[in-house]
Amino acid sequence: MTNPRHFLTLLDISPEEGTSILARGIALKAKQKSGEAHRSLEGKAMAMIFEKASTRTRVSFETGMFQLGGHALFLHSETTQLGRGEPVSDSAKVISSMVDIIMIRTFDHAMVEQFAAHSSVPVINALTDLTHPCQILADVMTFVEHRGSIKDKTVAWIGDGNNMTHSWINGSVTFGYTLNIATPNGYTPDATLLRHAISKGAKINLCNTPQEAVQGADLVTTDVWASMGQEEEQKIREAAFKDYQVDTALMSNANSDALFMHCLPAHRGEEVAADVIDGKQSVVWDEAENRLHAQKALMEFLMSV
Ligand code: CP
Ligand code: NVA
Repeated sequence: MTNPRHFLTLLDISPEEGTSILARGIALKAKQKSGEAHRSLEGKAMAMIFEKASTRTRVSFETGMFQLGGHALFLHSETTQLGRGEPVSDSAKVISSMVDIIMIRTFDHAMVEQFAAHSSVPVINALTDLTHPCQILADVMTFVEHRGSIKDKTVAWIGDGNNMTHSWINGSVTFGYTLNIATPNGYTPDATLLRHAISKGAKINLCNTPQEAVQGADLVTTDVWASMGQEEEQKIREAAFKDYQVDTALMSNANSDALFMHCLPAHRGEEVAADVIDGKQSVVWDEAENRLHAQKALMEFLMSV
């Protein structure tokens, strides 16, 4: 078996590789906008395995593969043998024998680790309950486009200590920003992941309030209060997070040129006020669009083309 390069968390790429992937993403975006063809993955196929819903991830990977000259197969677990209990290791061996790269969106992070361990081609984590690293590539690319390098800047995370928080934590190692985190008690990030990232150089401040977290922030970001799989906790979470909405008052405590980001989908009136997400500091549409270009660069990198 070959020894493929996987992207399961941001710690799978070095700071130099992260910077170079984003620079390539920006270049690929410019090529696409100017109509210059960039068919670097001609003849290549990607399997996209989904066990959860998606809009941005599916559209960006499928369109990205098309723009690079390759082909993408949408495989939902409900219509594959994976969903009927075929072992992950068997599925990984079979699917990777036919395609050149695989992306997976699922619940348990251990599933993508197991799949990758048995895959002969690169595997990309397209969101698990633990992390969502592709989103951080797009988000940091968006920051770079608007403000230049994110190294030594300050990012404020407000809300749930979830898969997005975890990827922002790991991204501090890759991209060198400081991350201020404000979460309610009981919703703090995973302690093991946090300790590991700090041991690798992540610069993290755990803050007591959202107001404290946004002090000096160049970027304020949040996410839904109930992630996919937590729908039944919606009401309990609405109560726990009621003081964690990003509104204009909170944004006014950040730096005056602070950007607002949200991975989407968003719930206006819950984690973010409508006048923030639809306001002048918000770059959420750029973030979403940049999934396309950052992931094209990631696929090229993992496939070494
Ligand atoms: N941000 C994100 O991953 O969106 P989707 O769930 O629509 O893919
Ligand atoms: N935390 C959210 C992110 C969606 C892109 C979820 O996991 O549902």
